[in-house]
Amino acid sequence: MKELKPVKLGILGMGTVASGLVNIMDFNKNKVDAAIKRDLTVTKVLVKNLGKKRNVSLPQEVYTQDAYEVINSDTDIIVELIGGINPAYEYIKAALNNKKHVVTANKALIAKHGEELELLADKNNVKLMYEASVGGGIPILNTIRENLSTNEFESVFGILNGTTNFILTQMTENGLDYDQAVKEAQRLGFAEADPSSDVGGDDAAYKLSILSGLAFGQKIHVNDIPKEGIIKISREDIVYAKELGYNIKLLAAGIKKGNEIELSVHPAFIPASHPLSTVKNEYNAVYLKGNAVGELLFYGKGAGSLPTGSAVLEDIIYIVKNVSSSADEIAENRQAGNKRENNLAVSNKGYKQYYINMEVIDKPGVLGSIASIFGKYNVSLASVVQRQKNGDNTVPLVFITHEAERKNIDAALEETKKLEFVTELTSIIIVESFK
Ligand code: HSE
Repeated sequence: MKELKPVKLGILGMGTVASGLVNIMDFNKNKVDAAIKRDLTVTKVLVKNLGKKRNVSLPQEVYTQDAYEVINSDTDIIVELIGGINPAYEYIKAALNNKKHVVTANKALIAKHGEELELLADKNNVKLMYEASVGGGIPILNTIRENLSTNEFESVFGILNGTTNFILTQMTENGLDYDQAVKEAQRLGFAEADPSSDVGGDDAAYKLSILSGLAFGQKIHVNDIPKEGIIKISREDIVYAKELGYNIKLLAAGIKKGNEIELSVHPAFIPASHPLSTVKNEYNAVYLKGNAVGELLFYGKGAGSLPTGSAVLEDIIYIVKNVSSSADEIAENRQAGNKRENNLAVSNKGYKQYYINMEVIDKPGVLGSIASIFGKYNVSLASVVQRQKNGDNTVPLVFITHEAERKNIDAALEETKKLEFVTELTSIIIVESFK
C-alpha cells in the first residue's frame, strides 16, 4: 500500500510526553496512516539509562545514550522532549543545522531562544514546531497560526499552569490551606518535588510569552512579563473571593491597547460567571478575543502523557503534510504567520480593579481615614466588607476598588500602612474584568 518513503523520527528523551507520543502512534496507527499515507517510524531514541524498563513497544536497538547519534542519524524529524535549556538548545541547533525538522514541547527554550531558533530553521529550510509548549493538548498555537491568521487580537487570557490551578481549586473546593494543597498536588503527580517554577509564575510566563508573541505578532521577551505567583494566596483570600462572587486563578494576561500590550502573570479574582472561573484542577484554558471572530474559549489538559503527546504528534503530521512545500515557501509562511515586526511596546501600566485586605484596630474613624487616603490618590472604592473582630480588637477590612493605576494603589497603601491603627496589609490581588 505504501509507495511513499517512511518518515523517520529521532526522539531526544523517553519520559512522560515521549512515551505518550509513541503509544498514540501505536493505538491510533490507522489514523496516522490515513493522515499522511505513509509509515511513521521511530528509528533512534536518546535515553539516560539503556536498561530501564519502559511502557512503550520500541525495539531495544533504537535506544542510545549519545544525542548526536540521534541528531546525525538518517532521520527526517527530531523530536526534543528532554526539556530545560541546556543541552536541549545545543541539540536543537545541531538538528536544524543538519537540516532536520524539529518538534519540541520545551516552553522555557522557545520562550528564551524561539526567535533565534526559528531564524535558524528558516535558514536551513526546515520547520520548527512547538504546539505542545503551551497548554499541553490544547491546539492553540497552530490554530492561531493557521485558522485565525486574519484576526487582530484584542486580548489573550489563559490559565496556563495546571499545577497552580490544581492547588487553587483544592483550596477553594476542599478548604485546604496552601501547604496542604501543594502536598496533595505532589502526591497526585501534578506538582513536582520542587514546584517553584509553577507556583512562582515562571512556567505561565514562558507560555504567555509564546502565546502572546504569536497572537499579537510581536516578539515578547519573557523577562518583560511581570509575574507574581500564588505563594501568598491564603485561605482567607479564597473565602473572601467566594463570598464576593469570584474564584482566584493564576491568570496569564495579554491585552492590546493602541500601540501597547499589557502583559502579566498574576493571581486574579475571576468573576464566577466568567468561563475561565469554571476551569478547575489540572485543566488549562485559553480565552481569546479576535476583532473578527469575537470571543473564543479553548479548554483541555495542559499536561500529561497522552494530551501533550497528541500535540507533539500533530506537529509531526503537519510537517509531513507540508514538507513538499518549496524551501522558500516555508520561510515565507513562517514570516507571514508570525508577523513579529508589529512594533508594539510591552507595558504594565493598566488600570485594574483590586481586592485589598488589611487588618486594622476597630475604632471610630478608621474607615473614614483610610477611604480619604484612597481618595487623595484617585482610587475610588467599589465595596467594603468588615467582618467580626479577630479577638485582639483588630478586624479584617476588605476593599474592592474601582479601576485604578497600580502606582496610585501602591502610593495609597504606603500612606495607609503608616496609620497607627493599620496593623497589617494582608493581601492585594487584581480583580479581572476582562476589558
Ligand atoms: N508544569 C506545567 C503545569 C505542565 O503545571 O501546567 C507542563 O507545562
